[in-house]
This record gives sequence, structure tokens and C-alpha cells, in this order.
Amino acid sequence: MTPLGRFKRNWLQPLIFLGNNPISLIGAGLTTASALVLIGFWVVDAFGHGGPSNPYIGIIIDLCLPGLFVFGLLLVPIGVWFRRRRLRAVGQLPSVYPRIDLSDPVFRHAVDFVVIATFINFVIVGTASYRGVAYMDTSNFCGQACHVMAPEWAAYAVSSHAHVACTECHIASGIPGFIHAKVNGTKQLFQVMFDTYPRPIMAENKVPAARTTCLNCHNPEKYIGDRLLIKTSYGDDEKNSVTHSLVLLHIGGHDQFGHLSGIHGAHLSRIEYIATDANNQTIPWSARMNDDGSITEYLSSDAQGRPIRGEKHRMDCLDCHNRAAHSFDTPEDALNKAMAKGVPDARLPFVHKESLTLIKASYASQAEAASKITTGLEDFYRSQYPAVWSQQRAQIDQAAQILVSIYGKNVFPFMKVTWGTHPDNIGHNAYPGCFRCHDGNHNAKDGKSITNDCSVCHNLLAVDEANPKQLADLGFQ
Ligand code: HEC
Ligand code: HEC
Ligand code: HEC
Ligand code: HEC
Ligand code: HEC
Repeated sequence: MTPLGRFKRNWLQPLIFLGNNPISLIGAGLTTASALVLIGFWVVDAFGHGGPSNPYIGIIIDLCLPGLFVFGLLLVPIGVWFRRRRLRAVGQLPSVYPRIDLSDPVFRHAVDFVVIATFINFVIVGTASYRGVAYMDTSNFCGQACHVMAPEWAAYAVSSHAHVACTECHIASGIPGFIHAKVNGTKQLFQVMFDTYPRPIMAENKVPAARTTCLNCHNPEKYIGDRLLIKTSYGDDEKNSVTHSLVLLHIGGHDQFGHLSGIHGAHLSRIEYIATDANNQTIPWSARMNDDGSITEYLSSDAQGRPIRGEKHRMDCLDCHNRAAHSFDTPEDALNKAMAKGVPDARLPFVHKESLTLIKASYASQAEAASKITTGLEDFYRSQYPAVWSQQRAQIDQAAQILVSIYGKNVFPFMKVTWGTHPDNIGHNAYPGCFRCHDGNHNAKDGKSITNDCSVCHNLLAVDEANPKQLADLGFQ
């Protein structure tokens, strides 16, 4: 007898005979169905736009479907084992197993059963996976299903990208990005399950390069020119004195004559840097690629001439707009913006000073903050300004509500996210930002340094002035 014949007689025929039982047949159906769905996903991945792009899809494709596949596979021998035991107990175990014969009605019946079970399982497994995937692709899932994302969700929901899906920026387009995201998503799931995720969660260069995300929507060549930035601030005096700063930012870009100008133009794909920390806050080395192909290197004097080792990054949108979707405020900015909108009411004496102290204090939880901020503000007016307390209760209550909401959107004690945890690289006042390089301390060999000249980046039309004439000229007052 040929080896194939022997294999058929010793293994295949007994297996098919004994496998003809409900448990094994359902197992076979499950296995083939999950295999079909898996193959379907892989085909979509390979030919689609990087496939479905949510990291948690990893959970379905990498865990659930293979799990079901293995489970079905295990059911087959289990069913075989039971049937064999039962037949042996009643003495009906055949010494010679029947040949595989398609004309045998019992055998045909089993095949029909597997085909039908596969079909039904396919519909069930497929629908469930599809719905799971569709749900997991939504920003609601990424941002809200998992409470560890609460800080990022809060900042995202009020950003100009509130309607851009998380996956658009967090998963590079293309298959490598998709695979990377799947591996990461599964890893993060385990971190959440075993409570080993970091607190706070920092970006640490894990966001894909702008060219694979931001540039799908933004044209880097766009000429923006100058933009006026108006900042309104309130003082710590009794009257909460208002001042304004007017800054004309030279954003520039690629103008119609092909010239690169301004802030955007200066960096577009021509600046490299090395950072010595995971969040790119300390940058001892930077270089500019000149039009003639030469390179000008700038070394921070803090590095004291020591060679800098580390990965070179080509500067892109993310190096300045790192908080495009999760812009946490500083307490000062948050309060100034709220007061400029009318609540806290600037007519409440010392409301700026008191509010700032209250939102900057540390609390064990958001709930504790909510109650202590409210009672803190109430106590202040009740004890210091009884007249205000009795006549302007409504304004005080509204102020307290807004302060609680400001705190709630920016400070998350359970994730160890507090004021300043996530530095914003635009500007230079609250965080190092531009001054990571433009501190006047990064020098080239010829002695020139990366510019620190205030007027190169902006015209300071007015800085903290009570009544800047330009505001009136613009028709704001
Ligand atoms: C417009 C692009 C964009 C969108 C949309 C976006 N993110 Fe981000 N996200 C970023 C960038 C850029 C960073 C890196 C921040 C940094 O380096 O400081 C980041 C960082 C993060 C971090 C790391 C922690 C931190 O705050 O730095 C988490 C977590 C995160 N995002 C979750 C989300 C979730 C959840 C959503 C959807 C609800 C989302 N992101 C939507 C661009 C985006
Ligand atoms: C899916 C499309 C999309 C992606 C991806 C995207 N953006 Fe945007 N972005 C927009 C739209 C639309 C607006 C305008 C929103 C508005 O005007 O309210 C915008 C506005 C902006 C603004 C100006 C408003 C502001 O908040 O300062 C900046 C800066 C910006 N995006 C940077 C980025 C960066 C950096 C990335 C990559 C991390 C990115 N965008 C990814 C669509 C996108
Ligand atoms: C060197 C830092 C830097 C880099 C790199 C950079 N930007 Fe900007 N960008 C700025 C500054 C500064 C502003 C104006 C201030 C602000 O938005 O708060 C700005 C403004 C913008 C705006 C808002 C313009 C408006 O109409 O108000 C958009 C959109 C934008 N940038 C997109 C991008 C994109 C896309 C990239 C990557 C190709 C990029 N930026 C790279 C610094 C940078
Ligand atoms: C990683 C380092 C780095 C960071 C961060 C950085 N720059 Fe630059 N920038 C450079 C280098 C290097 C040059 C080229 C040196 C030069 O021309 O003086 C440059 C040039 C410029 C120029 C052109 C200067 C000129 O003389 O024409 C402007 C404007 C500018 N940067 C604005 C900004 C702004 C605004 C920010 C923050 C939003 C910023 N830069 C952040 C490295 C950086
Ligand atoms: C490398 C570019 C650069 C240089 C040099 C620079 N600034 Fe700025 N500055 C910025 C940017 C960008 C912003 C806008 C930040 C934002 O969008 O919130 C800004 C904003 C400001 C503001 C507005 C108020 C605020 O709170 O943001 C003031 C005031 C200011 N700069 C003062 C100065 C002074 C004074 C100097 C010179 C010592 C200087 N800057 C040098 C880039 C620069």
C-alpha cells in the first residue's frame, strides 16, 4: 500500500468517521468561517487604503478571530474523543473504518452540515467583526471607551481638529503604518488590562511623521503671510486691569514668486535637529541645509563643545504644531480667554488673582477640585466682600462653574496630567517652544547664532498695553 493509502486508512478514515458528530462538525464550521473572515481582512488590508486603520482592530484580527479559529480546531478532536469513547463503551467501534465515499449518505450529510454551519458562522463572525471594526474606527471609541484617554479627548474635543478622526493623525497611511498600529493597539490593550500603562501618557515621538498624516489634508506650500495675534490679559489687582498684546506673526510660506519666507518658509524640509529627551524639549544641535547644498551646524553653548549623539530628525509640522489636536491651556491663558468671553466677570474684585490661585492649587481628584474651587471662591467673597457676595451671587456661581470646567479640561490627577505636563511648542512664553533653538545660544562655527531677534518672527505692535492705539484703528474698541 502507498504511504498515501496508509495515511488514508490509518488516519483520514477514522478521523472522518469519528468526526461525524455535532461537536466536531460545529468546530469545523467555526474554524473555516473564522479563517474565511481572516483571509477577507487580509485581502482588504493588502488592497485597500491601508485597510481599516484603528489600532484596536488588532484586538479582533490578532486576538479574537485567531482565538475562534483555534477554539473551533480544538472542538474537532474533543468531539472525536467523545464519540470514540461512547462507541467503545457500547462495543460499536469498528475495526475497519468505512472508506471515504461521497455516495455514502451519512458522509454526504456530514459534509452538508459543515458547509451550512460554515455559512451560518461566516455570517455571524463576519457581521460581528465588521461591526466591531466599524465601531472601533470612531473617535468616540478611541477617546472615550478607555478612560486613560480622558485628557487627550478633552483637549481634542475643543480643538480645531475635533472632527478629524484620531486615526488620521495617529496612524500613518499605508500598510506599514497599519501593522505598526495593530501591534501598538494590542500592546496598549494589555497595558490597560494589567494596569501597567504609563501615567502620564506622553507622546514620546510615537506620532507618525507629518508627511504621512497632516499633509493628507494640509498643503505645506500654502502661502499664509502675516497673521495678527491678539492676546487679552487681566491683572492681579482689585480691578483685574485689562491689557492687550498685538503681535503680527510672519508665518509666510511659499509665495507666488517661488520664494520661501517667514516662519513656515524658513524651516520647510531644510532644518535638522537632535534632541536629547524623548519629548524633544532639549535640543543641543540643529542644522540648516543651504540652497547650495552646504550645511550650517549650530551647537548649543550648553553642550560645551561636546559631540552630540542621537537620532537626527528632519523638522516638520509636528515640531511646532505638536498640540494641534490636544492643546492644553496654561492656567493663565485659560483664565484670560474665559474672562475675555465674560465669565468670570471682570467686575468681581480680585477675581483674576483668586481664580488663578484656585485653579493652580493641587487637588487629589477632579471631584475634590470641583468642590474646593467652588467653596474657595465663595468663601473669599463671603469673608472679604460681603456686599459683593450678597449682590453678585449669580456672577460668583457662574465664575465658579467656569473655573471648575477649566480645571476639568486641563488637569487629570488620576492620569498625573497637570498644568504644563504636555509642553506646546508654538511660541516661547509658557514653554521653551521656538527658543529650544532660537535662544541666541546656538552658534555656528562662524560665530553666527540661530536668530533671537524679536522682529524676525513677529512685529510686536503692542505688548501688554491698556489701550493700544492699533486696536482702535482696527475697529475693536
Ligand atoms: C490633528 C491630528 C491629531 C488628531 C486628530 C488626534 N491626535 Fe492625538 N496627538 C497628535 C499629536 C501631534 C500628538 C503628539 C503631541 C506631542 O508630541 O506633544 C498626539 C498625542 C496624543 C497622545 C499622547 C499623549 C499626549 O497628550 O501627548 C494620545 C494618548 C493621543 N494623542 C490620543 C488621541 C486620541 C484618543 C484622539 C482622538 C480622540 C487623537 N489623539 C486625535 C495629533 C492628533
Ligand atoms: C483630516 C484632515 C486633517 C488632518 C489629517 C490634519 N488637519 Fe489640521 N486642520 C484641518 C482642518 C479642516 C482645519 C481647519 C479647522 C478650522 O478652521 O476650524 C485644520 C486646522 C489646522 C491648523 C490651524 C488651526 C489651529 O488649531 O491652529 C493647524 C495649525 C493644523 N490644522 C495643523 C495640523 C497638523 C500639525 C496636523 C498633523 C498632526 C494636522 N493639522 C492634521 C484638517 C486636518
Ligand atoms: C517653525 C515652526 C512651524 C512649523 C515647522 C510649521 N508651522 Fe504652521 N505655524 C507656525 C506658527 C508660529 C503659526 C502661527 C501661530 C499659531 O498658529 O499659533 C503657524 C500657523 C499655521 C496655520 C494656521 C494659519 C492660519 O491661517 O491662521 C496652519 C494651518 C499651519 N501653521 C500649518 C502648518 C503645517 C501643515 C505645517 C507642516 C507642513 C506647519 N504649519 C509647520 C509655526 C510652524
Ligand atoms: C529645531 C530647532 C528650531 C526650532 C525648534 C525652531 N527653529 Fe526657527 N530656525 C532654526 C534654524 C536652524 C534656522 C536657520 C538659521 C538662521 O537662518 O538663522 C531657523 C530659522 C528661522 C527663521 C528665519 C530666520 C531668518 O533670519 O530669516 C524664522 C523666522 C524662524 N526660524 C522662526 C521660528 C519659530 C517661530 C519657531 C517656533 C514656532 C521656530 N523657528 C522654531 C531652527 C529652529
Ligand atoms: C523664533 C521666533 C521668535 C522670536 C525670535 C521671538 N518670538 Fe515672540 N513669539 C513667537 C511666536 C511664534 C509667538 C506666538 C505664540 C502663539 O501663537 O501663541 C510669539 C509671541 C510673542 C508674544 C505674545 C504674547 C504671548 O504670550 O504669546 C510676545 C509678547 C512675544 N512673542 C515677545 C517676544 C520678544 C520680546 C522677543 C525678543 C526677545 C521675541 N518674542 C522673540 C516667536 C518668536
